[in-house]
Amino acid sequence: MPSNQSLSDRARRIMPGGVSHELRYKAPHPVYIDRALGAEKWDVEGKRYIDFKLGAASQLLGNSCPEVMEAVARQLTKTPYSGDCHPLEIEWAEWIHRLVPSAERVRFTGSGSESTMLALRVARAHTRKDKVLRIDGHFHGWHDMLLKGSKPGTDRPPSLGVPQAISDLTAVAPPDLEAIAERLDRDPGIGSIFVEASGANYGSVPLPDGFLPAIRAMADELDKVLIFDEVITGFRWSPGGRQARDGVVPDLTTLAKVVTGGLPGGALAGKAHIMALLDPSRTVEGLAPAVSHKGTFNAAPMVAAGAVAAMRLLSTGEVQAQADAMAARLREGVNAAFARRGIKALAYGDSSTCHLYFGSTAIEGLSAQRIRTATPALVQGLRSGLLARGVDFMSFTSCVTSNTHTPALIDEAVGIFDAVLGDLTEAGAIAA
Ligand SMILES: Cc1ncc(COP(=O)(O)O)c(C=O)c1O
Repeated sequence: MPSNQSLSDRARRIMPGGVSHELRYKAPHPVYIDRALGAEKWDVEGKRYIDFKLGAASQLLGNSCPEVMEAVARQLTKTPYSGDCHPLEIEWAEWIHRLVPSAERVRFTGSGSESTMLALRVARAHTRKDKVLRIDGHFHGWHDMLLKGSKPGTDRPPSLGVPQAISDLTAVAPPDLEAIAERLDRDPGIGSIFVEASGANYGSVPLPDGFLPAIRAMADELDKVLIFDEVITGFRWSPGGRQARDGVVPDLTTLAKVVTGGLPGGALAGKAHIMALLDPSRTVEGLAPAVSHKGTFNAAPMVAAGAVAAMRLLSTGEVQAQADAMAARLREGVNAAFARRGIKALAYGDSSTCHLYFGSTAIEGLSAQRIRTATPALVQGLRSGLLARGVDFMSFTSCVTSNTHTPALIDEAVGIFDAVLGDLTEAGAIAA
């Protein structure tokens, strides 16, 4: 088997930066994963990692979940994809309807970014208002329409190539109800509000207490379409996502990652009267459907088969309870390591997440910018150190757990984490 380095050299000759996703770039080279099972994975050199990236948070059931794999394999003997309607997409939509409170109707998409794009088009068609308000630092995918504001503390998209005219349609506000009310008041052209239901970056910047019910009330009062991005929180925070756990129902919900059982795809769910705009049997102003939406691989049978198998497992809450318990154990272990070493830092997080903040043992009152931009050199050192010792954290300083993590794996990971803290302290990267 070729080495990680030789694969990276080869990749860089044919793919920009050698990667298919900018966050997979790593100097001197990324690791090339050969196989993954449960909470572990192995690279092409045979090195084993305890996995807290879990398919960019898509594998809540652990890598290569047997039930999902079997369902996909069964479907492959019939057809992976034919471009037709098929029974499994109905079963999948019915599961989402049963579990997610806002999901009166469901439309499948090709990814989370496509779900947020579609949500915005549907919201614009419903309100007849082109502008959207989004929260500073929240992430809603890589497309033009919601890119401005995804990098906290900046008022420009973190990319060239996004037309100014598109960015001008996006208003960015902090997760502060007064500031949001003031912005909405100042600009009556804003028709919809987009919120990552966990707070920025799956909760690395948590929303203030009471934010979700308050923004729901504000949207009702001002007649705005409220959209929860539950691409990460969906089926993870509870079988019905953050909205079911907290009892706050948005008008539209964007889903991906766990909703597909960790396979490629996504969904938009929402109130029937708004989603009706997608119904080709209805004509509005000479258009049928009123809102156009296509997508070759939407609800591909192979994906739907895996997703239905996943929905069965996700519906009881047991998966989430185990993943949550393992994340709590990880946070506790890491905080104990910080305390033992006298490092001023905090491991925190909701549901099955763990985020790190260096510089203080509390994050209350800190801005998104402050939390997300904690010393890049340290973040780089930490991630690389963990990877070298066999733990894969996700990007920035955050990670997720699955129901396949066990106390033994968590304790092993905490031990590795502690050793990396030791390395970084010795190298002067962390002040003890
Ligand atoms: C909250 C949120 N919304 C949208 C997306 C975009 O999803 P995708 O990468 O499937 O396009 C992501 C991806 O990480 C996400 O975390």
